[in-house]
Amino acid sequence: MPDPYSADLAAAAAIAAEHLAGLGERPVWRPVPEAERAWLSGQELPERGRPLGELLEDARTRVLPYPMGNGHPRFFGWVNSPPNPAGVLVEPLAAALNPSCAGGDHAGPHLERAAVRWLAELVGFPHPPGGGLLTSGASMATVICLATARQRAALADGWDAREEGLSGRPPMVMYVTEEGHSCLHKAAQLLGLGSRQVRVVPVDGAYRMDVGALRAMVEEDLRTGLRPFCVAGSAGTVNSGAVDPLGEIADVAAEHGLWFHVDGAYGALGVLADGAAPHYAGLERADSLALDPHKWLGVPVGCGCALLRDPGAARAAFSLVPSYLIDDNAGDLGWFSEYGPEQTRPFRALKTWATLSHLGRSGVERLVNHTTGLARTLAAMVEESGDFELLAPVTTSITAFRYRPRPTGLDALNRAIPGAVQARGNAFITGTRLGGRDALRACFLHPDTTERDLAVLLEEIRLAAKTLQRGDAAKAGEPRVRRGRGSA
Ligand SMILES: Cc1ncc(COP(=O)(O)O)c(C=O)c1O
Repeated sequence: MPDPYSADLAAAAAIAAEHLAGLGERPVWRPVPEAERAWLSGQELPERGRPLGELLEDARTRVLPYPMGNGHPRFFGWVNSPPNPAGVLVEPLAAALNPSCAGGDHAGPHLERAAVRWLAELVGFPHPPGGGLLTSGASMATVICLATARQRAALADGWDAREEGLSGRPPMVMYVTEEGHSCLHKAAQLLGLGSRQVRVVPVDGAYRMDVGALRAMVEEDLRTGLRPFCVAGSAGTVNSGAVDPLGEIADVAAEHGLWFHVDGAYGALGVLADGAAPHYAGLERADSLALDPHKWLGVPVGCGCALLRDPGAARAAFSLVPSYLIDDNAGDLGWFSEYGPEQTRPFRALKTWATLSHLGRSGVERLVNHTTGLARTLAAMVEESGDFELLAPVTTSITAFRYRPRPTGLDALNRAIPGAVQARGNAFITGTRLGGRDALRACFLHPDTTERDLAVLLEEIRLAAKTLQRGDAAKAGEPRVRRGRGSA
């Protein structure tokens, strides 16, 4: 067979290697210059196809120089990790094979069974055969878990939500905290539950669900004829990394027959940090868990996971096998496409399997311990500093804090700081609002971040704030503030 690929694949590998090797020397992030932005977004579809080598050159000179920044050890924004090298290595192989992992007897679906089981085993979630599937991310995993919960509640009440839709039935109510991720709200909206039926449960001083309030809200909703069906706890909130009291939530769920979902997209793996297990007690009692391999593990982006205690419930919510997809050899578990909305499914398992194999359990534990250690060290530095203030306890690998060089005007200052720090290019941080205050948050996921990088971060914040105070907004990059547009 002719070999049209070898030279260009080798060139692509060399470009990727050069990019990864030089990351630490380049700015963490820099704005895309106007001319490049215009080229990237405005180019015309070529009439005639272009040679592979030419495309690679465009990628090398016009795409790779403008990264989001998450490969760099001083990227602390949102929840975005650097790619694990094993994941990078096998991505071209997945593309070369290019299967649809909807189901069938080929390597992809079989490997997905192992990858999903490994994820469940790592965090101590029960894993019956077929108890989960890989997804595009936790947002999709959440849709799958909540759709499963919705159908289970309907069937328990003697009707079928898939067939009837929701109209004419008592509104189904779910419970999340004010720190719960936006994907929970989006899923509720998408599933026709309606935002009005999403109860926002208050949190305690450590940003964890107030379970007494949850219980009272459920009882009140029952009294008024609504149908409480699901409570979603967080194992690692995006704002502060807080882990809800999962065992207590599981008790309320059991008392009232609620589906207990845990959003562990970012933080479920935090259970592996030394001494962290008691914070996570109750995770293993959840009906479903969303966990993102593309966050803490560093599996290249495009990989979430929905884990289910009862896989049959997900199948009942999604299975729809048309005649052209009937597979008499599918076995008891059927196809992955019967457990979620996707039919054609990419080969996510290869990069997940490769990353987990490369790290091993001990490597995952090392990564989690290293990064949670950095978050605690930053918290200690903040508390010792005199001009910073810690805003939440550190449970996982996120430190929530703010700059406090003066007593007033702190919200405006801390709102402006992320953009000003980002524009300097030496570190990347994002902001949020926590307890009604504008806050900074640093999320640690990079295995190569050092304590020295933490000192650089605090100094960069001081310098950026000085620039802002001088009113030199242009230099500080105020027009290019990037808040809330990442993957958190
Ligand atoms: C706690 C938490 N839940 C859910 C999500 C949504 O995950 P995804 O972006 O993979 O859809 C995120 C994303 O950062 C998150 O941090």
